[in-house]
Amino acid sequence: MRLDQYMGRMGWVSRTQATKILKKHPMTINTDSTTDPSLLVSHNDIIDRPYMGITQHIVRLSVTILLHKPSGYVCSDRHEGQRRSWRDLIEDCPLHKDLRCAWRLDVDTTGLLIASTDGQFIHRIISPKFLCPKTYTVTLKKTITDEDCRQLEAWVMLDDGLTKPAQVQRLSDSSINLTLTEGKYHQVKRMCLAIHNECIWLHRWRVGKRNLWDIPPWQRRLVP
Ligand code: URA
Repeated sequence: MRLDQYMGRMGWVSRTQATKILKKHPMTINTDSTTDPSLLVSHNDIIDRPYMGITQHIVRLSVTILLHKPSGYVCSDRHEGQRRSWRDLIEDCPLHKDLRCAWRLDVDTTGLLIASTDGQFIHRIISPKFLCPKTYTVTLKKTITDEDCRQLEAWVMLDDGLTKPAQVQRLSDSSINLTLTEGKYHQVKRMCLAIHNECIWLHRWRVGKRNLWDIPPWQRRLVP
């Protein structure tokens, strides 16, 4: 991407201002100083001493983040008068306006949200063809029996069809790890209702090969 385009994309200055500013304030890209707005910058280049005092800026042509969503934040974009949105948690993130999230979580569900500016990356995660596994810890209102676990693993009938085979790991009398390879609307909660139980706490800690590791609630990590 051209340097002036990148400066505009980062919201530092407009592309036309960039040309004027570069003439007065050369920038260092990696080790070379430049005043050329058409210079191409690449992912991971380091921009130093740019205008407006930003130093050691690492160029991100695309950004992917793992976010630990707390309860109380919706995964849709914020609308007038609406509750808090996951976007409130990423406002200082590079290219945050272009981030789109994969596999949304309900407002009361906590856990791993993956967001990226890279459409192909998002597609690979959400396309049914790739069967991306997502693991949830589910706390239920009532005891869950072995028979219930077998039923969840095989299939349950929801009003929009049968669920695909899942994996269940029992953690206690009333909590399980549930791994799904699909993502129907409110799927986990509806699966619990289908076995005459109720989900009272839901936390997603793994999506594909990514998990929350040491990311505390409200925090996020950039995927290198
Ligand atoms: N299933 C649900 O019911 N809710 C979520 O937030 C995610 C999966």
